[in-house]
Amino acid sequence: MTQPTDGDTPVPRPKDAAREYFVACPPGLDGVVAGELAALGATDRQLLGTGVRCMADAGMRYRANLWLRAAIRVLEPVLKADTPDPKALYEAVRSIDWSRYMSGRQTLSVDCRVQDSALTHSKYAALTVKDAIVDQFRDRTGSRPNVDTQAADLPLHLYVHRNRATLSLDTSGTTLHKRGYRGAMVRSPLNEALAAGILYLTRWDRASALADPMCGSGTLPIEAAMLAARRAPGLLRTRFPFEGWPDFDAAAWSTARAEARALALPELPFPLYASDHHAGALDLARQAARAAGVEPLVRFTVADVGEFAAEAPLRMMVLNPPYGERLDAETDLPELYRKLGGAFRRFPGATAWVLSGNASLTRFLGMRATKQVKLLNGTIECRLLRYEVFPLGAEPPKDERPPQQRRGRKWTPNPKTK
Ligand SMILES: C[S@@+](CC[C@H](N)C(=O)[O-])C[C@H]1O[C@@H](n2cnc3c(N)ncnc32)[C@H](O)[C@@H]1O
Repeated sequence: MTQPTDGDTPVPRPKDAAREYFVACPPGLDGVVAGELAALGATDRQLLGTGVRCMADAGMRYRANLWLRAAIRVLEPVLKADTPDPKALYEAVRSIDWSRYMSGRQTLSVDCRVQDSALTHSKYAALTVKDAIVDQFRDRTGSRPNVDTQAADLPLHLYVHRNRATLSLDTSGTTLHKRGYRGAMVRSPLNEALAAGILYLTRWDRASALADPMCGSGTLPIEAAMLAARRAPGLLRTRFPFEGWPDFDAAAWSTARAEARALALPELPFPLYASDHHAGALDLARQAARAAGVEPLVRFTVADVGEFAAEAPLRMMVLNPPYGERLDAETDLPELYRKLGGAFRRFPGATAWVLSGNASLTRFLGMRATKQVKLLNGTIECRLLRYEVFPLGAEPPKDERPPQQRRGRKWTPNPKTK
């Protein structure tokens, strides 16, 4: 068998030694995910925009997939190699003993991303990896694993950057934002990982009421309920790929799941409000909350945002209002934002966080944002904006500087949503 070329690094993976992980997340949430990883015991965390590289023990595979809320997948690198051409990639992949990771009767898939490299075709690079693994099994055993692009036993992820390849086990398989509680597709649902990340960014205390008065399919209140009630999102999944791997530690996985179940709170001593003027959306939100096991923790109401009311003292609102997608063409959006601003002002002392993809609309709230965080909602560049609702007469003086001189005013409306 061919030897690895200079610079190849089959990543060592003794059971008890710290190993490397790369945890991918929606852009802008790397800081949040680093915080989640720290709480789970990861060290050497490096923030890389669309993910976090870190070191942790073998058990992190289980803890991360069970508990991470703002992440989308947990990768474990098994090879790093210089790959100036497809042959080098093929040889490097063949240098690994693949029987450590799968049997010849199992299936595999290779997802690939190439960037600034001589290898320019991601599909061809993925095919090269697949061929190297399949050829190794065929030469050694006479049988070969098959490819399954939907639900492979061993999903692999290849990232080639400046001719350096990192090949990783994808321990999550299906992206982690697909918690498994959402059924029928709804209009503009928020990605669950992004919703959880937003809740972390708001620094909500998880001990007082929170409302989303434009909740649509309910992602924010459902994620808020799961967060406050310490429900591990991974418990909703029926299966992870690693459960079929040769090194699967069934006892460790079962203990991690049992501990997660024991930590879950059955109820919360404060309400979570979810309302929307669309009764159909509310039905779907309720169904999703039921599937997530948090329906009793959320108060669902069909209501126009102008009528939104809360019984408990409300200190936190978090929402993503419509911001001008094609489907909103018939809505008078400036008027809707004026109404939303009015709704906020009914809760003096509260903080409202608005995810918006259109700066020209948020000004109709009639309030000044005190903080903004750049995020991507799908492909739409958004801002998460914080508004403090001051009691009448206690508003801070207006900033007299021209807008271009104020900090953080450089944002221009997304042309797609104008
Ligand atoms: C972008 S969607 C929110 C998506 C939601 N975060 C989710 O995860 O599904 C905006 C929502 O605002 C609701 N909406 C629009 N106008 C409203 C109004 N006047 N009162 C209450 N809800 C309204 C829409 O029905 C829609 O569900």
